[in-house]
Amino acid sequence: MYQKKAGVFMADWWDADGRRHRKQFSNSAAAREHEHRETALAHAERASREMKLAARTGGVKRSPKKADSGTMEPAKGKLGVMIPGMGAVATTFVAGVEAIRKGLAKPIGSLTQMGTVRLGKRTDGRSPKVKEFVPLAGLDDLVFTGWDIFEDNMYDAASNAGVLDQRLLDQLKPFLSSVTPRPAVFDHNYVKKIDGPNVKKGKSKMDLAEQLREDIREFRKSSGASRLITMWCGSTESYIEPTEAHQSVKAFEKALRDNDEMIAPSMMYAYASLMEGVPFANGAPNLTVDLPVMLELSRKNEAPICGKDFKTGQTLMKTVLAPAFKARLLGLSGWYSTNILGNRDGEVLDDPGSFKTKEESKLGVLEHILQPGLYPELYGNIFHKVRINYYPPRGDNKEGWDNIDIFGWLGYPMQIKVDFLCRDSILAAPIVLDLVLFLDLAQRSSELKGLGIQEWLSFYFKSPMTVPGLYPEHDLFIQLMKLKNTLRHLKGEELITHLGLEYYD
Ligand SMILES: NC(=O)c1ccc[n+]([C@@H]2O[C@H](COP(=O)([O-])OP(=O)(O)OC[C@H]3O[C@@H](n4cnc5c(N)ncnc54)[C@H](O)[C@@H]3O)[C@@H](O)[C@H]2O)c1
Repeated sequence: MYQKKAGVFMADWWDADGRRHRKQFSNSAAAREHEHRETALAHAERASREMKLAARTGGVKRSPKKADSGTMEPAKGKLGVMIPGMGAVATTFVAGVEAIRKGLAKPIGSLTQMGTVRLGKRTDGRSPKVKEFVPLAGLDDLVFTGWDIFEDNMYDAASNAGVLDQRLLDQLKPFLSSVTPRPAVFDHNYVKKIDGPNVKKGKSKMDLAEQLREDIREFRKSSGASRLITMWCGSTESYIEPTEAHQSVKAFEKALRDNDEMIAPSMMYAYASLMEGVPFANGAPNLTVDLPVMLELSRKNEAPICGKDFKTGQTLMKTVLAPAFKARLLGLSGWYSTNILGNRDGEVLDDPGSFKTKEESKLGVLEHILQPGLYPELYGNIFHKVRINYYPPRGDNKEGWDNIDIFGWLGYPMQIKVDFLCRDSILAAPIVLDLVLFLDLAQRSSELKGLGIQEWLSFYFKSPMTVPGLYPEHDLFIQLMKLKNTLRHLKGEELITHLGLEYYD
Protein backbone atom coordinates (compact mmCIF):
# COMPACT_ATOMS: atom_id res chain seq x y z
CA MET A 1 0.00 0.00 0.00
CA TYR A 2 1.29 3.45 -0.68
CA GLN A 3 0.21 7.05 -0.73
CA LYS A 4 -0.07 8.38 -4.25
CA LYS A 5 -0.62 11.98 -3.28
CA ALA A 6 -2.05 13.78 -0.26
CA GLY A 7 -5.26 12.04 0.80
CA VAL A 8 -5.10 9.27 -1.85
CA PHE A 9 -3.96 5.80 -0.80
CA MET A 10 -3.42 2.97 -3.25
CA ALA A 11 -4.14 -0.63 -2.35
CA ASP A 12 -1.69 -2.70 -4.36
CA TRP A 13 -1.94 -6.50 -4.70
CA TRP A 14 -1.42 -9.52 -6.96
CA ASP A 15 -4.23 -11.90 -7.82
CA ALA A 16 -3.99 -15.69 -8.00
CA ASP A 17 -2.86 -15.50 -11.64
CA GLY A 18 0.05 -13.19 -10.78
CA ARG A 19 -1.65 -10.05 -12.16
CA ARG A 20 -1.04 -6.82 -10.29
CA HIS A 21 -4.01 -4.64 -9.25
CA ARG A 22 -4.31 -1.20 -7.76
CA LYS A 23 -7.29 0.62 -6.29
CA GLN A 24 -7.62 4.09 -4.78
CA PHE A 25 -8.91 4.79 -1.27
CA SER A 26 -9.23 8.01 0.66
CA ASN A 27 -7.75 6.61 3.88
CA SER A 28 -4.85 4.29 4.61
CA ALA A 29 -6.81 1.87 6.85
CA ALA A 30 -9.35 1.10 4.10
CA ALA A 31 -6.59 0.66 1.51
CA ARG A 32 -4.59 -1.61 3.78
CA GLU A 33 -7.64 -3.71 4.69
CA HIS A 34 -8.62 -4.11 1.04
CA GLU A 35 -5.08 -5.07 0.09
CA HIS A 36 -4.80 -7.66 2.87
CA ARG A 37 -8.18 -9.18 2.02
CA GLU A 38 -7.35 -9.47 -1.68
CA THR A 39 -3.86 -10.88 -0.94
CA ALA A 40 -5.31 -13.50 1.43
CA LEU A 41 -7.95 -14.45 -1.18
CA ALA A 42 -5.27 -14.81 -3.85
CA HIS A 43 -3.17 -17.06 -1.58
CA ALA A 44 -6.19 -19.19 -0.74
CA GLU A 45 -7.14 -19.48 -4.42
CA ARG A 46 -3.62 -20.53 -5.37
CA ALA A 47 -3.40 -23.08 -2.56
CA SER A 48 -6.74 -24.56 -3.57
CA ARG A 49 -5.70 -24.80 -7.23
CA GLU A 50 -2.49 -26.55 -6.23
CA MET A 51 -4.33 -29.07 -4.07
CA LYS A 52 -6.83 -29.79 -6.87
CA LEU A 53 -4.05 -30.19 -9.39
CA ALA A 54 -2.05 -32.48 -7.11
CA ALA A 55 -5.16 -34.63 -6.53
CA ARG A 56 -5.99 -34.75 -10.29
CA THR A 57 -2.50 -35.54 -11.52
CA GLY A 58 -1.57 -37.77 -8.58
CA GLY A 59 1.77 -35.99 -8.60
CA VAL A 60 2.43 -36.71 -12.28
CA LYS A 61 4.99 -34.18 -13.49
CA ARG A 62 3.37 -31.25 -15.21
CA SER A 63 5.05 -28.82 -17.49
CA PRO A 64 6.52 -25.87 -15.66
CA LYS A 65 4.17 -22.89 -15.34
CA LYS A 66 6.62 -20.10 -16.02
CA ALA A 67 3.87 -17.49 -16.25
CA ASP A 68 2.99 -17.99 -12.56
CA SER A 69 6.44 -17.44 -11.23
CA GLY A 70 7.57 -14.38 -13.15
CA THR A 71 11.17 -13.79 -14.06
CA MET A 72 14.45 -13.71 -12.13
CA GLU A 73 17.29 -11.47 -13.17
CA PRO A 74 20.74 -13.12 -13.07
CA ALA A 75 23.09 -12.32 -10.16
CA LYS A 76 25.51 -10.17 -12.16
CA GLY A 77 28.18 -8.07 -10.48
CA LYS A 78 29.08 -7.56 -6.83
CA LEU A 79 26.64 -7.76 -3.94
CA GLY A 80 27.36 -5.24 -1.17
CA VAL A 81 26.54 -6.30 2.40
CA MET A 82 26.09 -3.41 4.83
CA ILE A 83 26.03 -4.31 8.53
CA PRO A 84 24.98 -1.98 11.33
CA GLY A 85 26.69 -3.55 14.37
CA MET A 86 30.12 -5.07 13.73
CA GLY A 87 30.19 -7.31 16.81
CA ALA A 88 30.38 -11.08 17.36
CA VAL A 89 27.79 -12.18 14.78
CA ALA A 90 28.88 -9.77 12.04
CA THR A 91 32.59 -10.56 12.35
CA THR A 92 31.99 -14.33 12.57
CA PHE A 93 29.95 -14.07 9.37
CA VAL A 94 32.43 -11.93 7.41
CA ALA A 95 35.51 -13.85 8.63
CA GLY A 96 33.69 -17.09 7.82
CA VAL A 97 32.90 -16.00 4.25
CA GLU A 98 36.53 -15.06 3.70
CA ALA A 99 37.79 -18.34 5.23
CA ILE A 100 35.45 -20.29 2.93
CA ARG A 101 36.55 -18.26 -0.10
CA LYS A 102 40.14 -19.10 0.73
CA GLY A 103 39.32 -22.80 1.05
CA LEU A 104 40.17 -22.82 4.77
CA ALA A 105 36.73 -23.93 6.00
CA LYS A 106 33.31 -25.23 4.93
CA PRO A 107 29.99 -23.31 5.01
CA ILE A 108 28.41 -25.65 7.56
CA GLY A 109 24.88 -24.66 8.60
CA SER A 110 24.14 -22.74 5.42
CA LEU A 111 21.14 -23.91 3.40
CA THR A 112 22.16 -21.85 0.38
CA GLN A 113 25.62 -23.42 0.26
CA MET A 114 25.08 -27.02 1.40
CA GLY A 115 21.31 -27.61 1.11
CA THR A 116 19.49 -29.37 -1.71
CA VAL A 117 15.95 -29.18 -3.12
CA ARG A 118 14.11 -32.29 -4.19
CA LEU A 119 12.36 -31.81 -7.54
CA GLY A 120 9.61 -34.01 -8.99
CA LYS A 121 8.87 -37.50 -7.72
CA ARG A 122 10.97 -39.34 -5.11
CA THR A 123 11.90 -41.78 -7.87
CA ASP A 124 13.16 -39.03 -10.21
CA GLY A 125 16.47 -38.65 -8.36
CA ARG A 126 16.59 -34.89 -8.97
CA SER A 127 17.97 -33.00 -5.95
CA PRO A 128 20.15 -30.11 -7.07
CA LYS A 129 21.97 -27.91 -4.60
CA VAL A 130 20.00 -24.76 -3.72
CA LYS A 131 22.79 -22.57 -5.10
CA GLU A 132 22.70 -24.44 -8.41
CA PHE A 133 18.91 -24.43 -8.64
CA VAL A 134 18.26 -20.69 -8.19
CA PRO A 135 20.54 -17.87 -9.36
CA LEU A 136 22.24 -16.77 -6.12
CA ALA A 137 25.21 -14.44 -5.80
CA GLY A 138 28.49 -16.33 -5.35
CA LEU A 139 30.58 -15.84 -2.21
CA ASP A 140 33.34 -14.29 -4.32
CA ASP A 141 30.95 -11.49 -5.29
CA LEU A 142 30.28 -10.36 -1.69
CA VAL A 143 31.78 -7.05 -0.52
CA PHE A 144 31.27 -5.64 2.97
CA THR A 145 30.91 -2.48 4.99
CA GLY A 146 29.46 -1.70 8.40
CA TRP A 147 28.71 0.81 11.12
CA ASP A 148 29.62 0.59 14.80
CA ILE A 149 29.92 2.84 17.83
CA PHE A 150 33.42 1.40 18.39
CA GLU A 151 36.30 2.16 16.02
CA ASP A 152 37.68 -1.39 15.79
CA ASN A 153 38.11 -2.81 12.30
CA MET A 154 36.75 -6.31 11.63
CA TYR A 155 40.02 -8.01 12.60
CA ASP A 156 40.15 -6.27 16.00
CA ALA A 157 36.41 -6.67 16.58
CA ALA A 158 36.60 -10.40 15.74
CA SER A 159 39.62 -10.81 18.05
CA ASN A 160 37.72 -9.08 20.87
CA ALA A 161 34.60 -11.16 20.29
CA GLY A 162 36.70 -14.28 20.88
CA VAL A 163 34.47 -16.56 18.80
CA LEU A 164 36.95 -17.71 16.17
CA ASP A 165 40.38 -19.15 16.69
CA GLN A 166 43.07 -16.43 16.66
CA ARG A 167 45.21 -18.46 14.22
CA LEU A 168 42.36 -18.46 11.70
CA LEU A 169 41.80 -14.71 12.19
CA ASP A 170 45.50 -14.04 11.64
CA GLN A 171 45.34 -15.78 8.26
CA LEU A 172 42.50 -13.43 7.32
CA LYS A 173 44.03 -10.31 8.86
CA PRO A 174 44.71 -8.19 5.73
CA PHE A 175 41.15 -8.63 4.51
CA LEU A 176 39.43 -8.22 7.90
CA SER A 177 41.52 -5.14 8.81
CA SER A 178 40.34 -3.46 5.62
CA VAL A 179 36.69 -3.45 6.78
CA THR A 180 36.42 -0.45 9.09
CA PRO A 181 33.27 0.84 10.74
CA ARG A 182 31.49 3.97 9.60
CA PRO A 183 30.31 6.23 12.43
CA ALA A 184 27.04 4.88 13.82
CA VAL A 185 23.68 6.44 14.53
CA PHE A 186 23.33 5.62 18.22
CA ASP A 187 21.12 6.58 21.15
CA HIS A 188 22.23 5.49 24.59
CA ASN A 189 18.61 5.51 25.78
CA TYR A 190 17.96 2.52 23.51
CA VAL A 191 21.03 0.48 24.53
CA LYS A 192 21.87 1.40 28.10
CA LYS A 193 24.79 -0.92 28.80
CA ILE A 194 27.23 0.35 26.15
CA ASP A 195 28.59 3.62 24.80
CA GLY A 196 31.25 4.35 22.22
CA PRO A 197 33.05 7.21 20.44
CA ASN A 198 32.30 6.43 16.78
CA VAL A 199 28.94 8.16 16.56
CA LYS A 200 27.41 10.58 14.04
CA LYS A 201 26.22 14.01 15.05
CA GLY A 202 23.25 15.70 13.42
CA LYS A 203 20.75 18.52 13.81
CA SER A 204 17.81 16.11 13.81
CA LYS A 205 16.99 12.43 13.35
CA MET A 206 16.17 13.26 9.73
CA ASP A 207 19.66 14.70 9.35
CA LEU A 208 21.13 11.46 10.79
CA ALA A 209 19.00 9.34 8.45
CA GLU A 210 20.23 11.48 5.52
CA GLN A 211 23.83 10.82 6.60
CA LEU A 212 23.12 7.08 6.55
CA ARG A 213 21.64 7.41 3.05
CA GLU A 214 24.79 9.21 2.00
CA ASP A 215 26.90 6.33 3.45
CA ILE A 216 24.86 3.87 1.40
CA ARG A 217 25.29 5.85 -1.80
CA GLU A 218 29.01 6.25 -1.12
CA PHE A 219 29.44 2.48 -0.55
CA ARG A 220 27.48 1.66 -3.69
CA LYS A 221 29.86 3.85 -5.65
CA SER A 222 33.17 3.02 -3.98
CA SER A 223 32.59 -0.76 -3.88
CA GLY A 224 31.20 -0.95 -7.39
CA ALA A 225 28.38 -3.15 -6.08
CA SER A 226 25.44 -3.62 -8.42
CA ARG A 227 23.11 -4.57 -5.57
CA LEU A 228 23.07 -3.97 -1.80
CA ILE A 229 21.58 -5.58 1.34
CA THR A 230 21.43 -4.19 4.89
CA MET A 231 21.62 -6.71 7.74
CA TRP A 232 21.11 -5.38 11.29
CA CYS A 233 23.56 -7.18 13.59
CA GLY A 234 23.52 -4.38 16.17
CA SER A 235 22.64 -4.70 19.84
CA THR A 236 19.10 -5.35 21.03
CA GLU A 237 17.33 -2.05 21.67
CA SER A 238 14.95 -1.28 24.53
CA TYR A 239 11.38 -2.47 24.23
CA ILE A 240 8.93 -0.03 22.66
CA GLU A 241 5.54 -0.36 21.02
CA PRO A 242 4.43 1.25 17.75
CA THR A 243 2.93 4.74 17.94
CA GLU A 244 1.25 7.11 15.48
CA ALA A 245 4.73 8.07 14.25
CA HIS A 246 5.18 4.60 12.76
CA GLN A 247 1.91 4.35 10.86
CA SER A 248 2.87 5.96 7.53
CA VAL A 249 5.86 7.39 5.70
CA LYS A 250 4.46 10.88 6.11
CA ALA A 251 4.07 10.54 9.91
CA PHE A 252 7.50 8.89 10.22
CA GLU A 253 9.27 11.64 8.29
CA LYS A 254 7.60 14.30 10.42
CA ALA A 255 8.70 12.40 13.53
CA LEU A 256 12.28 12.25 12.17
CA ARG A 257 12.26 16.01 11.70
CA ASP A 258 10.75 16.51 15.20
CA ASN A 259 13.31 14.21 16.88
CA ASP A 260 10.51 11.99 18.17
CA GLU A 261 11.94 9.79 20.95
CA MET A 262 9.96 6.79 19.64
CA ILE A 263 12.25 6.56 16.60
CA ALA A 264 15.02 4.12 17.49
CA PRO A 265 18.40 4.13 15.71
CA SER A 266 17.66 0.77 14.01
CA MET A 267 14.59 2.38 12.42
CA MET A 268 16.76 5.10 10.92
CA TYR A 269 19.01 2.49 9.30
CA ALA A 270 15.93 0.69 7.98
CA TYR A 271 14.39 3.91 6.67
CA ALA A 272 17.66 4.93 4.98
CA SER A 273 18.03 1.49 3.35
CA LEU A 274 14.47 1.20 2.13
CA MET A 275 14.54 4.78 0.80
CA GLU A 276 17.64 3.77 -1.18
CA GLY A 277 15.81 0.68 -2.46
CA VAL A 278 17.97 -1.67 -0.35
CA PRO A 279 16.41 -4.78 1.29
CA PHE A 280 16.68 -4.92 5.08
CA ALA A 281 16.87 -7.86 7.49
CA ASN A 282 16.83 -7.61 11.25
CA GLY A 283 18.89 -10.02 13.33
CA ALA A 284 17.72 -8.54 16.63
CA PRO A 285 14.24 -8.52 18.17
CA ASN A 286 13.84 -4.73 17.84
CA LEU A 287 10.63 -3.35 16.31
CA THR A 288 12.69 -1.82 13.44
CA VAL A 289 10.87 -2.94 10.26
CA ASP A 290 7.84 -4.51 11.92
CA LEU A 291 5.93 -1.29 11.30
CA PRO A 292 3.39 -0.03 8.72
CA VAL A 293 5.79 2.72 7.60
CA MET A 294 8.46 0.18 6.68
CA LEU A 295 6.04 -2.14 4.91
CA GLU A 296 4.80 0.82 2.90
CA LEU A 297 8.35 1.85 1.95
CA SER A 298 9.43 -1.71 1.24
CA ARG A 299 6.58 -2.29 -1.21
CA LYS A 300 6.83 1.10 -2.83
CA ASN A 301 10.58 0.86 -3.42
CA GLU A 302 10.61 -2.90 -4.11
CA ALA A 303 13.10 -3.47 -1.30
CA PRO A 304 12.13 -6.69 0.52
CA ILE A 305 12.00 -7.00 4.32
CA CYS A 306 11.63 -10.10 6.51
CA GLY A 307 11.26 -11.15 10.16
CA LYS A 308 13.31 -10.30 13.20
CA ASP A 309 15.68 -12.00 15.67
CA PHE A 310 17.78 -14.85 14.26
CA LYS A 311 16.48 -18.27 15.31
CA THR A 312 19.72 -19.84 16.52
CA GLY A 313 19.93 -21.93 19.74
CA GLN A 314 17.22 -22.39 22.31
CA THR A 315 14.36 -21.17 20.14
CA LEU A 316 15.53 -23.40 17.29
CA MET A 317 15.17 -26.37 19.67
CA LYS A 318 11.78 -25.10 20.85
CA THR A 319 10.43 -24.92 17.32
CA VAL A 320 11.62 -28.50 16.72
CA LEU A 321 10.29 -30.03 19.94
CA ALA A 322 6.94 -28.23 20.26
CA PRO A 323 5.69 -29.43 16.82
CA ALA A 324 6.60 -33.00 17.87
CA PHE A 325 4.45 -32.71 21.02
CA LYS A 326 1.58 -31.32 19.01
CA ALA A 327 1.93 -34.01 16.33
CA ARG A 328 1.60 -36.71 19.01
CA LEU A 329 -1.07 -34.81 21.00
CA LEU A 330 1.13 -34.77 24.09
CA GLY A 331 0.09 -32.07 26.57
CA LEU A 332 2.36 -29.36 27.94
CA SER A 333 2.05 -27.83 31.38
CA GLY A 334 5.27 -25.86 31.64
CA TRP A 335 8.44 -24.86 29.79
CA TYR A 336 11.21 -23.17 31.74
CA SER A 337 14.11 -21.88 29.64
CA THR A 338 17.20 -20.27 31.06
CA ASN A 339 20.51 -19.20 29.53
CA ILE A 340 23.94 -18.09 30.62
CA LEU A 341 26.14 -16.17 28.22
CA GLY A 342 29.05 -13.81 28.63
CA ASN A 343 29.49 -11.89 25.37
CA ARG A 344 28.58 -8.25 24.75
CA ASP A 345 25.11 -9.34 23.65
CA GLY A 346 24.68 -10.94 27.09
CA GLU A 347 25.81 -7.72 28.76
CA VAL A 348 23.32 -5.65 26.72
CA LEU A 349 20.52 -8.11 27.53
CA ASP A 350 21.28 -7.66 31.23
CA ASP A 351 19.41 -4.37 30.94
CA PRO A 352 15.67 -4.90 31.65
CA GLY A 353 14.60 -2.79 28.61
CA SER A 354 16.67 -4.79 26.12
CA PHE A 355 15.75 -8.07 27.84
CA LYS A 356 12.03 -7.30 27.51
CA THR A 357 12.47 -6.94 23.73
CA LYS A 358 14.19 -10.35 23.61
CA GLU A 359 11.70 -11.95 26.00
CA GLU A 360 8.71 -10.94 23.85
CA SER A 361 10.40 -12.45 20.81
CA LYS A 362 11.21 -15.74 22.57
CA LEU A 363 7.82 -16.13 24.26
CA GLY A 364 5.59 -15.84 21.17
CA VAL A 365 6.79 -19.11 19.66
CA LEU A 366 4.93 -21.72 21.73
CA GLU A 367 1.48 -20.21 21.50
CA HIS A 368 1.57 -20.05 17.72
CA ILE A 369 2.84 -23.61 17.35
CA LEU A 370 0.61 -25.26 19.95
CA GLN A 371 -2.62 -23.37 19.18
CA PRO A 372 -4.21 -23.51 22.68
CA GLY A 373 -7.50 -22.25 21.18
CA LEU A 374 -7.77 -25.48 19.15
CA TYR A 375 -6.38 -27.79 21.86
CA PRO A 376 -7.46 -26.29 25.21
CA GLU A 377 -7.07 -29.57 27.22
CA LEU A 378 -3.49 -29.97 26.00
CA TYR A 379 -2.14 -26.45 25.76
CA GLY A 380 -4.67 -24.19 27.49
CA ASN A 381 -2.65 -23.74 30.66
CA ILE A 382 1.09 -23.53 29.98
CA PHE A 383 3.58 -21.85 32.29
CA HIS A 384 6.26 -20.50 29.94
CA LYS A 385 9.26 -18.67 31.35
CA VAL A 386 12.45 -17.43 29.65
CA ARG A 387 15.49 -16.12 31.53
CA ILE A 388 18.83 -14.81 30.23
CA ASN A 389 21.70 -14.33 32.66
CA TYR A 390 24.91 -12.46 31.90
CA TYR A 391 27.81 -14.67 33.01
CA PRO A 392 31.16 -13.37 31.66
CA PRO A 393 33.29 -16.55 31.99
CA ARG A 394 31.28 -18.21 29.20
CA GLY A 395 31.92 -15.57 26.53
CA ASP A 396 30.08 -16.44 23.30
CA ASN A 397 29.70 -20.08 24.36
CA LYS A 398 26.19 -19.93 25.69
CA GLU A 399 24.52 -22.65 27.72
CA GLY A 400 20.76 -22.93 27.40
CA TRP A 401 18.76 -25.21 29.68
CA ASP A 402 15.17 -26.20 29.15
CA ASN A 403 12.97 -28.04 31.61
CA ILE A 404 9.82 -29.20 29.85
CA ASP A 405 6.85 -30.65 31.73
CA ILE A 406 4.65 -32.67 29.41
CA PHE A 407 1.78 -35.10 30.02
CA GLY A 408 0.56 -38.16 28.13
CA TRP A 409 -2.13 -40.87 28.10
CA LEU A 410 -4.62 -40.36 30.97
CA GLY A 411 -2.73 -37.22 32.02
CA TYR A 412 0.42 -38.93 33.36
CA PRO A 413 3.25 -36.38 33.72
CA MET A 414 6.73 -36.67 32.18
CA GLN A 415 9.76 -34.39 31.95
CA ILE A 416 12.32 -33.59 29.28
CA LYS A 417 15.59 -31.74 29.99
CA VAL A 418 17.61 -30.11 27.24
CA ASP A 419 21.07 -28.71 27.88
CA PHE A 420 22.39 -27.06 24.73
CA LEU A 421 26.03 -25.97 24.99
CA CYS A 422 26.02 -23.89 21.87
CA ARG A 423 28.10 -21.20 20.24
CA ASP A 424 25.82 -18.30 19.54
CA SER A 425 27.62 -16.63 16.67
CA ILE A 426 28.60 -19.94 15.03
CA LEU A 427 24.88 -20.69 14.77
CA ALA A 428 24.01 -17.16 13.61
CA ALA A 429 26.64 -16.65 10.87
CA PRO A 430 25.18 -19.09 8.28
CA ILE A 431 21.76 -17.53 8.85
CA VAL A 432 23.22 -14.13 7.97
CA LEU A 433 24.74 -15.56 4.79
CA ASP A 434 21.52 -17.25 3.68
CA LEU A 435 19.44 -14.14 4.36
CA VAL A 436 21.84 -11.95 2.39
CA LEU A 437 21.67 -14.28 -0.62
CA PHE A 438 17.93 -14.93 -0.46
CA LEU A 439 16.98 -11.27 0.03
CA ASP A 440 19.07 -10.43 -3.00
CA LEU A 441 17.30 -13.20 -4.93
CA ALA A 442 13.93 -11.81 -3.79
CA GLN A 443 14.84 -8.41 -5.14
CA ARG A 444 15.77 -9.91 -8.51
CA SER A 445 12.50 -11.87 -8.72
CA SER A 446 9.68 -10.02 -10.48
CA GLU A 447 7.19 -11.88 -8.33
CA LEU A 448 8.75 -11.33 -4.90
CA LYS A 449 10.35 -7.90 -5.05
CA GLY A 450 7.17 -5.86 -4.63
CA LEU A 451 5.62 -8.01 -1.90
CA GLY A 452 7.36 -6.27 1.01
CA ILE A 453 7.45 -9.02 3.65
CA GLN A 454 9.15 -12.23 2.52
CA GLU A 455 7.26 -14.73 4.63
CA TRP A 456 9.13 -17.62 3.03
CA LEU A 457 12.21 -16.52 5.04
CA SER A 458 10.39 -17.16 8.38
CA PHE A 459 12.67 -20.23 8.70
CA TYR A 460 15.46 -17.98 9.97
CA PHE A 461 13.63 -15.93 12.60
CA LYS A 462 12.33 -16.17 16.15
CA SER A 463 9.67 -13.60 15.18
CA PRO A 464 8.67 -14.13 11.55
CA MET A 465 6.84 -11.25 9.92
CA THR A 466 3.47 -11.58 8.22
CA VAL A 467 0.92 -9.16 6.87
CA PRO A 468 -1.39 -7.92 9.65
CA GLY A 469 -4.16 -10.41 10.42
CA LEU A 470 -2.12 -13.48 9.44
CA TYR A 471 -0.55 -15.53 12.24
CA PRO A 472 3.13 -16.44 11.72
CA GLU A 473 4.31 -20.01 11.13
CA HIS A 474 6.88 -20.97 13.79
CA ASP A 475 7.15 -24.72 13.14
CA LEU A 476 10.66 -25.17 11.68
CA PHE A 477 9.55 -27.92 9.30
CA ILE A 478 6.58 -25.99 7.93
CA GLN A 479 8.93 -23.04 7.50
CA LEU A 480 11.43 -25.19 5.59
CA MET A 481 8.70 -26.57 3.34
CA LYS A 482 7.46 -23.04 2.67
CA LEU A 483 10.98 -21.89 1.79
CA LYS A 484 11.72 -24.80 -0.56
CA ASN A 485 8.29 -24.62 -2.18
CA THR A 486 8.89 -20.93 -2.83
CA LEU A 487 12.13 -21.81 -4.62
CA ARG A 488 10.34 -24.52 -6.65
CA HIS A 489 7.56 -22.06 -7.46
CA LEU A 490 10.03 -19.41 -8.62
CA LYS A 491 11.51 -21.92 -11.04
CA GLY A 492 8.12 -23.17 -12.25
CA GLU A 493 8.67 -26.61 -10.68
CA GLU A 494 5.93 -28.72 -9.20
CA LEU A 495 5.29 -28.03 -5.49
CA ILE A 496 5.80 -30.97 -3.19
CA THR A 497 2.70 -31.89 -1.16
CA HIS A 498 3.97 -35.24 0.22
CA LEU A 499 0.68 -36.88 -0.85
CA GLY A 500 2.51 -39.73 -2.59
CA LEU A 501 -0.50 -41.90 -3.58
CA GLU A 502 0.83 -42.23 -7.13
CA TYR A 503 3.64 -44.53 -5.96
CA TYR A 504 1.01 -47.16 -5.04
CA ASP A 505 -1.10 -47.11 -8.25
N1 LIG B 1 24.28 -14.72 18.19
C1 LIG B 1 23.07 -15.18 18.19
O1 LIG B 1 22.86 -16.37 18.27
C2 LIG B 1 21.93 -14.24 18.05
C3 LIG B 1 20.68 -14.78 17.87
C4 LIG B 1 19.59 -13.95 17.70
C5 LIG B 1 19.78 -12.60 17.74
N2 LIG B 1 21.00 -12.07 17.95
C6 LIG B 1 21.10 -10.63 18.00
O2 LIG B 1 22.04 -10.19 17.07
C7 LIG B 1 22.59 -8.96 17.54
C8 LIG B 1 24.11 -9.05 17.45
O3 LIG B 1 24.59 -10.03 18.36
P1 LIG B 1 26.14 -10.07 18.72
O4 LIG B 1 26.34 -11.28 19.54
O5 LIG B 1 26.95 -9.84 17.51
O6 LIG B 1 26.25 -8.78 19.68
P2 LIG B 1 27.53 -7.84 19.89
O7 LIG B 1 27.25 -7.09 21.14
O8 LIG B 1 28.79 -8.62 19.81
O9 LIG B 1 27.50 -6.87 18.62
C9 LIG B 1 26.58 -5.85 18.49
C10 LIG B 1 27.33 -4.64 17.98
O10 LIG B 1 26.37 -3.63 17.66
C11 LIG B 1 26.97 -2.38 17.96
N3 LIG B 1 25.88 -1.41 18.01
C12 LIG B 1 24.96 -1.19 18.96
N4 LIG B 1 24.11 -0.22 18.58
C13 LIG B 1 24.51 0.20 17.36
C14 LIG B 1 24.05 1.17 16.45
N5 LIG B 1 22.98 1.92 16.73
N6 LIG B 1 24.68 1.32 15.26
C15 LIG B 1 25.78 0.55 14.95
N7 LIG B 1 26.27 -0.38 15.81
C16 LIG B 1 25.64 -0.56 16.98
C17 LIG B 1 27.69 -2.64 19.26
O11 LIG B 1 28.69 -1.68 19.49
C18 LIG B 1 28.27 -4.02 19.01
O12 LIG B 1 29.58 -3.96 18.46
C19 LIG B 1 22.08 -8.76 18.96
O13 LIG B 1 20.99 -7.88 18.94
C20 LIG B 1 21.61 -10.13 19.33
O14 LIG B 1 20.57 -10.11 20.30
C21 LIG B 1 22.10 -12.86 18.09
